[in-house]
Amino acid sequence: MDEGAQELSRVGQRALEWGARYLRGVGDRPVQSDARPGDLLKRLPGAPPDGAPDDADAAWDAIFADLDALITPGLTHWQSPSFFAFFPCNHSTPTVVAELLSAMLNVNGMNWATAPAVTELEIRMLDWMAQAFGLPACFHSDAPGGGGVIQSTASDATLVALLAARHRARRLSAGDDEIDARLCVYTSTQAHSSVVKAAMIAGLARTPDDTRCVRLISPGETLAMDPQALSAAIRADREAGRRPMFVCATVGTTSSGAIDPVERIARAMGQGEDRAWLHVDAAWAGAAMVCPEHRGALGAGLEQADSLCVNPHKWLLTNFDCDLMWTRAREDLIGALSITPEYLRHESQDAGAVDFRDWQVPLGRRFRALKLWFLLRRYGVDGLRGHIRRHVRWGEELESWARADERFEVPVPRSLSLVCLRLRAGDGATRALLERVNASGKAYLSHTTLPDASGAERYVIRVAIGGTLTERTHVAGLWDLLRAEADRVLGSPA
Ligand SMILES: Cc1ncc(COP(=O)(O)O)c(C=O)c1O
Repeated sequence: MDEGAQELSRVGQRALEWGARYLRGVGDRPVQSDARPGDLLKRLPGAPPDGAPDDADAAWDAIFADLDALITPGLTHWQSPSFFAFFPCNHSTPTVVAELLSAMLNVNGMNWATAPAVTELEIRMLDWMAQAFGLPACFHSDAPGGGGVIQSTASDATLVALLAARHRARRLSAGDDEIDARLCVYTSTQAHSSVVKAAMIAGLARTPDDTRCVRLISPGETLAMDPQALSAAIRADREAGRRPMFVCATVGTTSSGAIDPVERIARAMGQGEDRAWLHVDAAWAGAAMVCPEHRGALGAGLEQADSLCVNPHKWLLTNFDCDLMWTRAREDLIGALSITPEYLRHESQDAGAVDFRDWQVPLGRRFRALKLWFLLRRYGVDGLRGHIRRHVRWGEELESWARADERFEVPVPRSLSLVCLRLRAGDGATRALLERVNASGKAYLSHTTLPDASGAERYVIRVAIGGTLTERTHVAGLWDLLRAEADRVLGSPA
């Protein structure tokens, strides 16, 4: 076994050097992989090696050579400073190191008793992050019913919030065996697909288009959910004898960064014990709540929410995966998800120890709080603010450049560091522009469609600024590239 530790030390060093070299040079690689489906499969043996090689060093030489030859050419480089697609997926030295240490400790924090420090560090980190975001005190672990947990993804957070909502609705309708058939879920047409997917998993929708229990509320002009439309849908359902159960508001929609008005949504949902559960999906934009200047827009009304989530693995310098979820009603979350067979019992349960397996779908759980602990100790909350502010500033610049170029239009106002663009020449030209930029390998962008004033869906390029390695020069370089490729698409120099 000592041999194993020595190999770990030797190969670990090599892996770190490989990784540091990769990150130093990632900006020089084509951002988007040009792999075709099946390319790697063709080059991988169909069966696993049977015996282990005698010479460990030679085996590692071959493994690292194949990493370079087979794997990296098949990657789209999310850590490239010119990756502007989807939303960013940040890395940082403190959280890479925490991942490494977590892999070596390899503990399973399913119960408090199986890894006390994992549970308690997580409780404290969620309280630290709640303070960093200025969240209402109802979400802190010392508030009655409050507390936070790390989920793998925002999709997981939405799913468990929906399950908690159903638990509450069933609890309040005890004796009504038909309640499940009457439950309704509400979100905006602009919400992330994970909301409808959660309804599908929970058995409330058979397909993405099944609207028997799911209401997709049309947005207003800014593409944020229209509280009046929500209120009307809830009223109609109540009048029809249905039970509104779950509303998901989005703070920073995936397509355009629209911010649903949580305060007005909460008001539209009505009052009383049987009010639906309000979940706020702030997966991407929530990170900007570290900056007090963004809290007014992003955090208004959060004290009305039953749960919310933010993904530091998107825009807060934290390696994937790490979704922070808070609730003010943990008894409903635990009620929906807790099951304790004899083999999971431990004495500290009677003393009120937190078992985070009861807050999530899987049993086992990784030691992810270490990442937040290292991150906050290395950079402080102020370091996180600097990260967000730089990107928002460059987003402002990019938006102003696009508005000043008459060939481009900005169909919706920039949201933080997300800028949506299109060519006035139309959908075909805009799509051609995106394809040319991505094919160049110099930057990578993604697209969406957004409704125009007449409600017709129009093709739009999204530029999400937020990479760990992105500097202003990469944003300026992207704009030069967009202009040059627009010349080619439109057939005339600017
Ligand atoms: C608003 C929003 N919610 C949820 C998600 C899904 O995130 P995850 O991959 O963490 O499930 C995304 C992804 O971009 C998102 O933008």
